Amino acid sequence: MIILDVNGKMHTLDVSPDTPLLYVLRNDLGLNGPKFGCGLGQCGACTVLMDGTAVLSCLMPVARAAGHKIVTLEGLGSPGKPHPLQRAFIKEQAAQCGYCSNGMIMKSKELLDHSPDPTEEEIRNALASNLCRCGTHNNIIRAVRRAAREMKPRELKPRDMKPGELKR
Ligand code: FES
Ligand code: FES
Repeated sequence: MIILDVNGKMHTLDVSPDTPLLYVLRNDLGLNGPKFGCGLGQCGACTVLMDGTAVLSCLMPVARAAGHKIVTLEGLGSPGKPHPLQRAFIKEQAAQCGYCSNGMIMKSKELLDHSPDPTEEEIRNALASNLCRCGTHNNIIRAVRRAAREMKPRELKPRDMKPGELKR
């Protein structure tokens, strides 16, 4: 038995320890955000977060994911309450077939968690190993920049402060 923590829920699974995490997420847990692209660690479509770090779930034996916090695209937001990255990808029309979107979004989440205001070069470098066969790269970069702007804490302007409140 393998116990997996996925999107904040614990799952007890009767699977072989060397089953790729991607198969367990899709086939046993019904989480279809992560995609099967190459199955060889070369496209990034299967990316999920493990303790906040982007990992390729097609290469990860499920036993190695046990004891860690796994987050999939479904764990970021919901259709009613999407994550700013998910919203930005829609607003910037950053998908054609959408097959790469999971990996692009999960990798961007890792980037923005560590670097909330990335330069275009930093975004390009972070996404360099994620492949998009449809050529939506420029829209994807715009979407990540839009999400970064939306996620940035709003700076307090003098008119936002209450009388007597000290600016820190
Ligand atoms: S499906 Fe995992 S890297 Fe391509
Ligand atoms: S939108 Fe089709 S692979 Fe990227």
